[in-house]
Amino acid sequence: MPSLLLLAGDGIGPEITDATKRVIEHFNTAGAGFELVEGLVGGAAYDAVGTPFPEETLQKAEATDAILFAAVGGPQYDHLAYDERPEAGLLGLRKHFDLFANIRPAIVYPALADASSLKREVVEGLDIIILRELTGGVYFGEPKTIEDIGNGQKRAVDTQVYDTFEIERIARAAFDLARARRGKVTSMEKRNVMKTGVLWREVVEATHRQGYEDVALDHMLADAGAMQLVRDPKQFDVVVTDNLFGDMLSDVAAQLTGSLGMLPSASLGAVDERTGRRRAMYEPVHGSAPDIAGRGIANPIAMIASFGMALQYSFAMLDEARALDAAIAAALEDGVRTADIAAGGPSVDTKGMTDAILAHLQRAA
Ligand code: NAD
Ligand code: IPM
Ligand code: MN
Repeated sequence: MPSLLLLAGDGIGPEITDATKRVIEHFNTAGAGFELVEGLVGGAAYDAVGTPFPEETLQKAEATDAILFAAVGGPQYDHLAYDERPEAGLLGLRKHFDLFANIRPAIVYPALADASSLKREVVEGLDIIILRELTGGVYFGEPKTIEDIGNGQKRAVDTQVYDTFEIERIARAAFDLARARRGKVTSMEKRNVMKTGVLWREVVEATHRQGYEDVALDHMLADAGAMQLVRDPKQFDVVVTDNLFGDMLSDVAAQLTGSLGMLPSASLGAVDERTGRRRAMYEPVHGSAPDIAGRGIANPIAMIASFGMALQYSFAMLDEARALDAAIAAALEDGVRTADIAAGGPSVDTKGMTDAILAHLQRAA
């Protein structure tokens, strides 16, 4: 039986998790047989057991096929030490399972072309992927410290570090993804100031020469790439970039689609040669949205579509994944909008959006 660990976390996390559970139950009624396990992570885990990343959660993750992660964080945890903060739970899971390839698709649904803050013609029909390296770079590089250097001064250090193998495996993932799409990869770094950028480009080019020459490859400095993403995003197919640039560029890409509440993601590890499977965690790109938490108005689409990516990447249930995507598109086509994509017009709450998606799923079944 396929199994999923649900980690609801903080803020709007539990609200969008409840919505997604209803969607999973729909597929279970149709015979999918998902076994759902729940666990604690982030601030919720810190409050309950004193750590954002409990051993019990790790064990549950080890024992299930994939993780569906909602969101963590909140201002009430701002005073905590770095490794006690809710985000440490998320980073710990990514690192523990070596989930180096974070696929962040930015798709503009036809009905939402006017919800973006950019002009319709700039975003209409957009379908790109930001492929973010997720387990290296400045997020995990050592040293990572704040030290007292006397005279009332402190010094903070983060370390941006990449080894060849880390760049090579994310480059391969980019070329593989592009091959199944429009065959174009744009690599973004800052080789003009960063040594990691110099190596990044070198390794991406070397990997390209090793059997990927059918894919078109070009390079952009990440700052210019950010500008191009809002000037003419449809020039891209797959953008591959490091952990920090990928974090920022994917929030930019989210806004092209209308709202952070729309963007799902898949965080994948390497294929295990013994089992043929890969570890995976599915997570909306957005956070815990403390400004709207507890009001039941969050857009559940990013998390529901993250479950859709699990259907595709972890369970090879491609028909189901397509049906779910079609149901989301149809609900939007009907004019159903949560507040974040309503542009000030009439809106429904989290439950209303979920009802609309479920109604289309049931009609199609
Ligand atoms: P955020 O993504 O939580 O929110 C940014 C803005 O987008 C807010 O105005 C929010 O209301 C809106 N928004 C986000 N998701 C939405 C949704 N589903 N529906 C409607 N509106 C939505 O980012 P932030 O405010 O910068 O961060 C809040 C906390 O979340 C921080 O503690 C941060 O570290 C954490 N965070 C967690 C994750 C994660 O768990 N994967 C991702 C990003 C940020
Ligand atoms: C994301 C988030 C996380 C990140 C935070 C919450 C650690 O912003 O998934 O985009 O920076 O990776
Ligand atoms: Mn982010």
